[in-house]
Amino acid sequence: MPVETQTADSYREDLVNSGVVIKTEELAKVYEMGAEQVHALRGVNLEIRKGEYVAIMGPSGSGKSTLMNLIGCLDSPSSGKYWLAGRLVSDLDDDELAYIRNKEIGFVFQTFNLLPRATALHNVELPLIYNGTHKPNELSGGQRQRVAIARALVNTPSIVLADEPTGNLDSKTGEEIMALFENLYRQGNTIILVTHEHDIAQHAHRIIFIRDGKIASDEAVKK
Ligand SMILES: Nc1ncnc2c1ncn2[C@@H]1O[C@H](COP(=O)(O)OP(=O)(O)OP(=O)(O)O)[C@@H](O)[C@H]1O
Ligand SMILES: [Mg+2]
Repeated sequence: MPVETQTADSYREDLVNSGVVIKTEELAKVYEMGAEQVHALRGVNLEIRKGEYVAIMGPSGSGKSTLMNLIGCLDSPSSGKYWLAGRLVSDLDDDELAYIRNKEIGFVFQTFNLLPRATALHNVELPLIYNGTHKPNELSGGQRQRVAIARALVNTPSIVLADEPTGNLDSKTGEEIMALFENLYRQGNTIILVTHEHDIAQHAHRIIFIRDGKIASDEAVKK
């Protein structure tokens, strides 16, 4: 085995053994918009351990969703490295990304990615608060979000990513949704959620602020 490969392998092993499920190194994303380049992420260095509960905050356009999409293996970085559960995923092709995504990640999108015409029960089987005969557009925002969370958990991923999961909800429904995340956290899942709301972020144990495509601060939440 070439020395370099050995080093990379033992590095991955070290990450797993020390409980690091997500690690990024100088992660960057540039979107090409015709002649223009948008530097959405400008070198993000991040380590998240198994079972952590992390909130990501920051102004609109700061790169939160871009970072979530990269962490969630929905997109590839322009440069930098990303290890997920001990694998260097920044080097993988789309098929390999899809495989790892399905295995490791549950994604709750801000806009509900449910087929409007399928009944909700086709998408999930879970203790929902309705009888499963409604189409998604007949559900309330909170009900739809429960379906989205349920659907994200279908493959029992250990990492749950949620981009503004309470964005369109009234505060009572928002708190109910946060109770679901709290449960997932207690069961040992790793939770990362994006939010604009400080109250929501306080549910997490660590808050990362993103500004202009970089981490501006990364602090534990005092409980
Ligand atoms: N697919 C894309 N093509 C081109 N530019 C994009 C694309 N997606 C995002 N951007 C740009 O990248 C930057 C970061 O966007 P991103 O969606 O990550 O921000 P955000 O922090 O999630 O914002 P918000 O809080 O409004 O959701 C913005 O300037 C945005 O316009
Ligand atoms: Mg966003």
